[in-house]
Amino acid sequence: MDTKTKQNNEIINKALANELLQQIREAALGGPKKQRERHVGRGKLLVRDRIDRLIDANTPFLVLSQLAANGQYNDEFPSAGIVTGIGLIHGREVMIVANDATVKGGTYVHETIKKHLRAQEIAETNHLPSVYMVDSGGIFLPEQANVFGDKDDFGRIFFNQARMSAAGLPQIAIVMGSCTAGGAYVPAMSDETIIVRNQGTIYLAGPPLVKAATGEVVTEEELGGAEVHTSISGVADHLAENDDHALEICRDIFRHLPQNVKQSLHREESLLPKFSTQELYQLIPEANKPWPDVSLIIERIVDKESFRSFKENYGKSLVTGFARLHGYEVGIIANNGILFSESALKGTHFIQMCNSRGIPMIFLQNISGFMVGKEYEQRGIAKDGAKMVHALANSTVPFFTVIIGGSHGAGNYAMAGRAYEPRFLFMWPNARISVMGAKQAAQVLCTLKKDQAAAKGESVSDEELKRIEEGIITQYEKEGSPYYSTSRLWDDGVIDPAQTRDVLGMVLETSLNAPFEKAKYGIFRM
Ligand code: COA
Repeated sequence: MDTKTKQNNEIINKALANELLQQIREAALGGPKKQRERHVGRGKLLVRDRIDRLIDANTPFLVLSQLAANGQYNDEFPSAGIVTGIGLIHGREVMIVANDATVKGGTYVHETIKKHLRAQEIAETNHLPSVYMVDSGGIFLPEQANVFGDKDDFGRIFFNQARMSAAGLPQIAIVMGSCTAGGAYVPAMSDETIIVRNQGTIYLAGPPLVKAATGEVVTEEELGGAEVHTSISGVADHLAENDDHALEICRDIFRHLPQNVKQSLHREESLLPKFSTQELYQLIPEANKPWPDVSLIIERIVDKESFRSFKENYGKSLVTGFARLHGYEVGIIANNGILFSESALKGTHFIQMCNSRGIPMIFLQNISGFMVGKEYEQRGIAKDGAKMVHALANSTVPFFTVIIGGSHGAGNYAMAGRAYEPRFLFMWPNARISVMGAKQAAQVLCTLKKDQAAAKGESVSDEELKRIEEGIITQYEKEGSPYYSTSRLWDDGVIDPAQTRDVLGMVLETSLNAPFEKAKYGIFRM
């Protein structure tokens, strides 16, 4: 790659990273200024300040899906009105799920629930305790049809709490505001619950509904205030005087939890990459331009000179090899072009090896799909791709996916797309995700239209074909954007490429809370 191209790439990719940062900053403000001021005026801390004070001082908080619901609901649900992420409490990784009451009273739309459930899924698979900071009016009532009736809707939150509690994963709630109707079950289903005096309330129906239903006239505090629940009903266990006190009590609960023994994993001294992670900006090409060898990208993520390639000269469109990341041994699987039979076989072999050796895997996904055409079909590319998918689907070591470029077709599956349950999945701001590329999809649909018309002895005008083509391209451009994806929780967040190494280090460390199990495979089609 020549110097001019690198300079050009750097300008474009830094602009993309800045745009991402800008969007994240805006979303992190929370609800409208008026609501934020009202919230603080009530003596409450803003949600992100609550989290800052809960976690160990000077430790990072890995925020998930910061741009959930972005661009939807007239942008009235920044971050989907909930903050989720992983932070340390007394040195232990904990999943934090915290309502933002400045966003429509902390109520839940479809993406809020998806984000809450995803956080619980991460907690469950990585064996993390959960802290729920509750300050929510429950379901956002106009959206009830999208949040109530189905399996992965509001009710699933409490199902997950019961299952995790049974699995010995502590469930701790801090009631810092309203917990109404179904929302009352978050503290009620927790192992230990803290509630803030004159601020937290838990009830199945608020005073207006009680009056309407039974005629009883009752105040909020009598119905479900902190005094009532800690001294009469027993729905909560600890009475806090204010937010800070509640957070202190929560930290103290963690001091008394049994310690979790982490899965051991070969580790050496962590060394910075040979080349700065900042150089990634120079390597990511402009849209539709060729990519450099992915080994150059790997070198800017893993520990200095730690990458050892496996089958370097075979199936070269897939790069596989062992490396260290923040000192930990990992297997890297990265695309270097379209997947052929050989690359899929190499990937299968490598995935099996990582599972057999208990080595976590990192997928750097940039794939337009598997090779198509008579020669490849006749040589059985479908069954070779299936072997890789099979090995992946039955993997038991933790694996993580970063979509660094395109994510299209069955390549998405073999390279650990969302359906394959990577422990975490992130996208770069330049990435694209769609069943196929925009141009290819437009061509396929135009060909179908022409064939249909020809079968009826008719023809399609050039203007009509142009209209179809342009429509599909516009649609795919919009829906293929990482912002579209992250708004709908198809990933765990869009990250700045320069942060990839550290984000992967954090999720790898987190994944060691759950012991690795032995992998079992079914039938590989030969
Ligand atoms: N559905 C839809 N919108 C809701 C809502 C709900 N369940 N709860 C609150 N909102 C909206 C309000 O209409 C308001 O919207 P606006 O900013 O566009 O005017 C915004 O959220 C803030 O509500 P507000 O009542 O002004 O805030 P608050 O901080 O004084 O009180 C609650 C927050 C949650 C305690 C209070 O709004 C409430 O009791 N809501 C009803 C809760 C309920 O009955 N839920 C049952 C659902 S299962």
